Amino acid sequence: MLKIVSICGSLRKDSFNKMLLEAIKQESKEVGDMEITIVEIDKLPLFNEDLEIGGDPVEVIDFKEKLREADGILIVTPEYNSGIPGGLKNALDWASRPIQSSIFANLPVAVAGATPGSIGTALSQMQLRQILVAMNANVMSGPKVLVGGVHQKVDSETKQIIDQRTISHLRSFANQLKDFVMMYKKEKNK
Ligand SMILES: Cc1cc2nc3c(=O)[nH]c(=O)nc-3n(C[C@H](O)[C@H](O)[C@H](O)COP(=O)(O)O)c2cc1C
Repeated sequence: MLKIVSICGSLRKDSFNKMLLEAIKQESKEVGDMEITIVEIDKLPLFNEDLEIGGDPVEVIDFKEKLREADGILIVTPEYNSGIPGGLKNALDWASRPIQSSIFANLPVAVAGATPGSIGTALSQMQLRQILVAMNANVMSGPKVLVGGVHQKVDSETKQIIDQRTISHLRSFANQLKDFVMMYKKEKNK
């Protein structure tokens, strides 16, 4: 069973990106042999090198431990002002430290995002990919999950994505995610 740890860049309760993450989780169950768990980032303090000197704060230790258990990471993010939300960048900065034991180094990572807007978080994902490359992560190139007009693709009562084209695309994404993470796991076990 592959362990995928996921991070959602949105902290809000009724987040469309959380709905997207749940839909990917659902499709990953259909694909099989993988389990997606969610690690929260809302309790992490703002990154400050002075804080590191005394050792990582307990919230950071817990966050890093959960990430270390992962065979692969999935990041689902909104787009804020054409980039990623500050909370997500903060979480990635913590995970990248100390530089010689950066958790993301050589780890397979996939990204996805949703917005009511028309370009489906293309700009924030572009920025996120750049940041992940700087962290030496192995970023899955596709299929890209850029869900635009997401408010029209969910059921407002159940808070679930109901658009069938999106769901079928998410199945392909989950399939590729499994193959991608498996490839790195096999390489690691050689
Ligand atoms: C500070 C801020 C900036 C935003 N900038 C963008 C943007 O650049 N592009 C976009 O498509 N949507 C933008 N939005 C709208 C978000 O896509 C929308 O609020 C979305 O629902 C947030 O994701 P969530 O539902 O997962 O919380 C912005 C929203 C906020 C709060």
